[in-house]
Amino acid sequence: MTDSDSDLSTITDEIKELDKEYGELKKYYQEYQEKLSEVQAMQKKCSSLANHQARKYKQLTENLKRTSSQLPNDSDDNEQQKLKKELKERGKVCTEVFDSLPRTGGALLHVIVGKVSVSLLSKAERWDYKEDYEHFKFYMTIICLLLAIFNTFLLQSSTSEILIRFFDAIMHFLLVWWYCTLVLRESILAHNGSRIRGWWVIHHYLSVVLSGILLIWPESITYQLFRNKFMVFSLYLCGVQLIQYYYQSGCLYRLRALGEKADMYITVEGFQKWMWRGLSFLLPFLFGGYIFQLYNAYFLFQLSFHPDCNEWMVPAASLIFFILFLGNMSTTLRVVIDKLASTKKALAKQNKKKD
Ligand code: COA
Repeated sequence: MTDSDSDLSTITDEIKELDKEYGELKKYYQEYQEKLSEVQAMQKKCSSLANHQARKYKQLTENLKRTSSQLPNDSDDNEQQKLKKELKERGKVCTEVFDSLPRTGGALLHVIVGKVSVSLLSKAERWDYKEDYEHFKFYMTIICLLLAIFNTFLLQSSTSEILIRFFDAIMHFLLVWWYCTLVLRESILAHNGSRIRGWWVIHHYLSVVLSGILLIWPESITYQLFRNKFMVFSLYLCGVQLIQYYYQSGCLYRLRALGEKADMYITVEGFQKWMWRGLSFLLPFLFGGYIFQLYNAYFLFQLSFHPDCNEWMVPAASLIFFILFLGNMSTTLRVVIDKLASTKKALAKQNKKKD
């Protein structure tokens, strides 16, 4: 018997050994296929029922509003309130059903990923996706921080200008890619119920444009004059983003615990306390970053009058830094004002309960 004969019989024996498991795999796969088509049929049914119900409840709510305005003031207010509450409750259930069904994304997602479902069907999946988003931001911040340290401190002035520009371009390209990815991930998060404010998504769009401008800005006197300032700004921003990561992932962990109450028990009051402690540490750094953005806008504006300035990138970058400053400052102030109001409301509610 030759070596190749014995090899063949070993393979045949091993295939036979796998026979039982192979049969099991085929059986489970068939069962899975059947269940999948059953689930798809149920999803279709739920979707059409929920659509019909939601439309009807909307109509009925409008009818109720119209009827209430025509009724005399002393008519049965209790009955109207009861109906209103019932309609609201049922509408909520319809929304819950929609959220748990596969849906295609909005216009942006449609253009980029095509007509596929971007819905995360369970709460756990949504939490996991958000957690992954925060981790992604954290790792990318570390990479950018290392690149910024390398570009600021390790590339010596004796290094050739082409080499310096090459490493700068790597960093700018990475930023373009990172912000594009963030915009996509944030659109998926918003599609799945995240309360992320529109400005933060616009902020990342503008950051894509700004990084793109820095990437194509040719080697010139104006680039050299701004380069070091931008590197120091990047270092500062990475530091702020690390503190922001600590705050956001802490919020996520606590909100998840509040939502599931399985991991641990955290009170709403406890969450608010933690949130304000985190915010009061983070906010000064954030405002410092906004002042830095304003300074960059001013510096670039001045630079655009430099006798050697021939690049359109200088006023364009100045304008974007200024818009970022305005948008970030006003949105963060709005967030703080809204949070103060909701904390006050929650405290008043709690005190009322105690009384
Ligand atoms: N980027 C992405 N998502 C954000 C976000 C941001 N900058 N700010 C808030 N969110 C998300 C939150 O995670 C939350 O998501 P969820 O609904 O899925 O749980 C939702 O938006 C609502 O958050 P909100 O309660 O309004 O704020 P917060 O307490 O989570 O965070 C700030 C408040 C001010 C700390 C946060 O908005 C922030 O860090 N902003 C500064 C960003 C910035 O300016 N960066 C540039 C620095 S120079």
